[in-house]
Amino acid sequence: MSKLNRMLKGVSYHDSKLFIIVDENTYSHCLPSLIAHVPALEGAEFFEVPVGEEAKSIEVASQLWESLLQSGADRNSVIINLGGGCVCDLGGFVAAGFKRGIRYINIPTTLIAMADAAIGGKTAVNLDNVKNPVGFFWQPEAVCMNPLFLDSLPSDELANGFFEVLKTLYISDSRLLNGLLFDLKFKNGNLLDEAKELVVHCATFKSNVAEADPAEQSVRKILNFGHTFGHGIESFAIERGMSMSHGIAVGIGMLCELYLSVKKTGLDEGVLADYRDIVRNAVDLPCYSLADTESILKYMRNDKKNRDGLILCVLLQDYATPVIDVAISENEVRDALLKVSKL
Ligand SMILES: NC(=O)c1ccc[n+]([C@@H]2O[C@H](COP(=O)([O-])OP(=O)(O)OC[C@H]3O[C@@H](n4cnc5c(N)ncnc54)[C@H](O)[C@@H]3O)[C@@H](O)[C@H]2O)c1
Ligand SMILES: [Zn+2]
Repeated sequence: MSKLNRMLKGVSYHDSKLFIIVDENTYSHCLPSLIAHVPALEGAEFFEVPVGEEAKSIEVASQLWESLLQSGADRNSVIINLGGGCVCDLGGFVAAGFKRGIRYINIPTTLIAMADAAIGGKTAVNLDNVKNPVGFFWQPEAVCMNPLFLDSLPSDELANGFFEVLKTLYISDSRLLNGLLFDLKFKNGNLLDEAKELVVHCATFKSNVAEADPAEQSVRKILNFGHTFGHGIESFAIERGMSMSHGIAVGIGMLCELYLSVKKTGLDEGVLADYRDIVRNAVDLPCYSLADTESILKYMRNDKKNRDGLILCVLLQDYATPVIDVAISENEVRDALLKVSKL
């Protein structure tokens, strides 16, 4: 935080107006300690947005653009996103669109945002229950991590972030992953404490991959492991008014994609079995009907990753060996979704 204070006192922020975006929870749990530790933010104006996915809408973005105009924001102004992935995705989107792009800083306050969402410059809002179809690549000026913000995070939100942490380990590091799996299986390790300790690995890995391929033309696609199914499952849950967090949807999506990896890219069945045990312990796996799979498919056909009408997926050959752009048929999608609760 002292680094952030020095940065904001520096010459390039000298006469910048600062705007902090918070939601109700980060307003009460995080804003007071942020202001206490970063005196440069004392005069900043703050805007509160709805909690969760509701914030990621074009209507909320539009209200923020109006508020910025009314408050005299200019091209030199800076937006500071204090929150989880929803606040960071929305605030980055607002920064990218305002006056053709102004600077922004992410201060992630959830495990998902620290390990993943705050890094890499993907910004987005949702549209018609579809996740993230409208957005920009727009890089933050800085991402400031303070693990102390996790102290007030409810345990279900930590569990939510745990799956993004796991996702990163499956595609990046078999040693760390095996260590975590071993601890969970034999030492009855606390899943959430373990995940917190892996945040720095995940953030560094994501930052390196995003830097190597900022516009997601090649290697960055590996970060979408679990997300082809995950986004379909999440959109379906939103459509049905069910409460399912992004991380849990990705956790179920990874189960589907590991199942297809055994069938299509030669993944060892033991990898699927180990993962199935973890996910079963943490999540009530949904039992989809054939009609449900058609609804989920409707969303998956719209996925940004698809090309030439094919649904594309990241599958694994082994731990830390992802394969990008694997085409999967609609029947394979149905098969995986119908089996998800019985694997
Ligand atoms: N842009 C990317 O690269 C990227 C990557 C992964 C996920 N995402 C997006 O991130 C979103 C999910 O992120 P999330 O789970 O962090 O969502 P979130 O922002 O909704 O935060 C989850 C909940 O935790 C609360 N909260 C946040 N910080 C808190 C704190 N310190 N103490 C107490 N409560 C706190 C929030 O108010 C909210 O209720 C999804 O929309 C997903 O699409 C984006
Ligand atoms: Zn994600």
